[in-house]
Amino acid sequence: VKKLADLAVAGKRVFIRADLNVPQDEAGNIVEDTRIRASLPSIRYCLDNGAAVMVTSHLGRPTEGECRAEDTLAPIAVRLGELLSKPVRLIRDWVDGGFEVKPGEVVLLENCRCNKGEKKDNEELAKKMAALCDIYVNDAFGTAHRAEATTHGIARFAPVACAGMLMGAEIDALTKATETPARPLVAIVGGAKVSSKLTILKSLADKVDQLIVGGGIANTFLLASGKRIGDSLAEPELVKEAQTIMDMMKARGAEVPLPVDVVVADEVSALARANRIPVDEVGPHDRILDVGPKTSAQLAQIIAHAGTIVWNGPVGVFEHNQFAGGTKMMASAIAHSDAFCIAGGGDTLAAIAKFHIAQDIGYISTGGGAFLEFLEGKTLPAIAALEGRFTD
Ligand code: 3PG
Repeated sequence: VKKLADLAVAGKRVFIRADLNVPQDEAGNIVEDTRIRASLPSIRYCLDNGAAVMVTSHLGRPTEGECRAEDTLAPIAVRLGELLSKPVRLIRDWVDGGFEVKPGEVVLLENCRCNKGEKKDNEELAKKMAALCDIYVNDAFGTAHRAEATTHGIARFAPVACAGMLMGAEIDALTKATETPARPLVAIVGGAKVSSKLTILKSLADKVDQLIVGGGIANTFLLASGKRIGDSLAEPELVKEAQTIMDMMKARGAEVPLPVDVVVADEVSALARANRIPVDEVGPHDRILDVGPKTSAQLAQIIAHAGTIVWNGPVGVFEHNQFAGGTKMMASAIAHSDAFCIAGGGDTLAAIAKFHIAQDIGYISTGGGAFLEFLEGKTLPAIAALEGRFTD
């Protein structure tokens, strides 16, 4: 993969596909801007070196051919301008050109998913977009698992296609954690459903020394190990799959450490009364909403001895303080550990922010789905396209 930092960009028209798909509140205010900040190094490099810079991104999942008020990148143009300390013009209808960008100037091209053919990776659209630039830069790691016109097709037709600085950093950090991990390699996979993380769980079961499961995922594993889980969130239809994963791990001398104690309540709410009980005492109406203190201490020990940690998902409903203990303890163990930790996914980033440990994480990925698919060992179409391999 060619890298932006190795290219001379002075006087060139550079088209950067970034992932500026950030959470917004109902009024359109940006709630969290990590992805915008993460895209700055490539943009700054191009500006500082005299390129005429066009940046685009998707925001949400708009209907193609339409651009509703909630689809616009206008608030992102404002935030980008603040961060770069220079105005960022938003160009609305840009596919056919007809706008000017001067060297040292940056414009934001309106939500690329509003263009017909973007999602389907339409060839005509990709050619038109490629004609706008001398250099195409893909810096949108968070969208690397999508083969769309701005992430995939354009790379075939642009005069030069390269990886941006964020894309390069993501690939390097995730490769380090997966290909040459310092052992023990510990994965933490939390979240509501086994079904949404089944592929990653199976693929990790082949590689890691300990697989810590949390949330609804852990409940399904508890069911598989014969425990009663009362009214807890779980997927009984996936108990067999959970069993297979535990068997795979055991056969390799690896472990899935399951909770020995849990925090239960009869509802998920800020006011719910939480009880800490041994896992064998879960009653028929209890809902398991966090791991208990004994389990937290065990998990902290595992994390303390890890060489590499891959973290995706919390172990409890940490949004409510009475169910945050397990995730907090884990976060603190990660912060104190010497292991190289990579973390990714929306909930994980929220936990990192809540417990103020961002500075202690080796690498925080901007990818959600892309992070998981990379770890699964899948070919990400946007990265393959930069290598000249096209997935059609
Ligand atoms: C994400 O938020 O995971 C990326 O921006 C990709 O968004 P998508 O799932 O709508 O393709």
